[in-house]
Amino acid sequence: MKKGFGEKVLKRADRKVVFVTTFVTTVAMSIMYIFVTWSVGFTSSVDFCTVNCHEMTPQYREWQTSSHYNNDTGVVAECADCHLPPSFIPKMMAKTYYGVRDTLVHYFGDPENLDRKKMGESAAASIVNASCQTCHKNLFPSGLPRGGFLAHRRMEGEKQKCVSCHRHMAHQNRIYFDS
Ligand code: HEC
Ligand code: HEC
Ligand code: HEC
Repeated sequence: MKKGFGEKVLKRADRKVVFVTTFVTTVAMSIMYIFVTWSVGFTSSVDFCTVNCHEMTPQYREWQTSSHYNNDTGVVAECADCHLPPSFIPKMMAKTYYGVRDTLVHYFGDPENLDRKKMGESAAASIVNASCQTCHKNLFPSGLPRGGFLAHRRMEGEKQKCVSCHRHMAHQNRIYFDS
């Protein structure tokens, strides 16, 4: 037997172990990745928001008749496009928070008697400009009325929120029109 044979065998075995470990880890991580992206996508979908919780039905119906569902561009803004911040970590944090809160209300609260006016205020407070601006990148499009031009120019300096001027783009609850 030549010197170093044992070492070679060991090295070959090592390589196999390394190969198998890498392979198994890669497969496991791919499966996990697919599962996480799938579940994040699924739990952010319009169906998940509305089919599972019938208390969201009014908001869903209103949204379907709104300009953010029905418009000439064919672009549809879904619930999560407005209601969750667009970047990954804040989005996951908001998803977790609202997910837990809405589930608690669904099972232990009083989902038949929700105060939509209060909910509207808290929803508006939580909606960030960055969500609107993933689609509305140009705040000075051609055809923007003069009032809009002035308002948008002023806004940039004063750091106003889009929703402090633009409400009811997706929901037209009568409560809001009365106030
Ligand atoms: C274009 C942006 C946008 C989209 C899309 C959107 N919302 Fe809203 N949502 C808002 C804003 C802004 C408010 C704050 C109240 C208002 O302006 O009417 C709000 C308020 C709410 C409220 C609390 C107040 C209320 O009216 O009851 C709920 C619940 C809600 N949205 C659910 C949904 C669901 C479910 C969907 C999808 C089917 C959806 N939203 C789609 C912007 C949006
Ligand atoms: C997924 C893309 C998307 C998101 C997110 C989005 N919008 Fe829109 N928005 C649109 C489209 C598409 C239209 C219709 C444009 C048209 O008809 O030319 C529109 C129309 C509008 C209009 C004019 C019509 C109306 O109903 O008043 C306003 C104002 C507006 N959006 C504000 C907002 C604000 C504020 C937000 C954030 C809360 C927001 N949008 C989020 C895509 C989006
Ligand atoms: C100070 C009030 C104010 C703020 C804040 C504001 N807007 Fe506007 N916006 C207006 C006015 C006024 C118009 C003119 C049309 C109208 O009356 O709705 C307008 C028009 C628009 C339109 C319609 C453009 C068109 O071609 O008809 C969009 C889209 C829009 N704003 C998006 C936004 C977004 C996104 C933000 C946040 C980054 C924002 N606005 C912040 C007052 C405001």
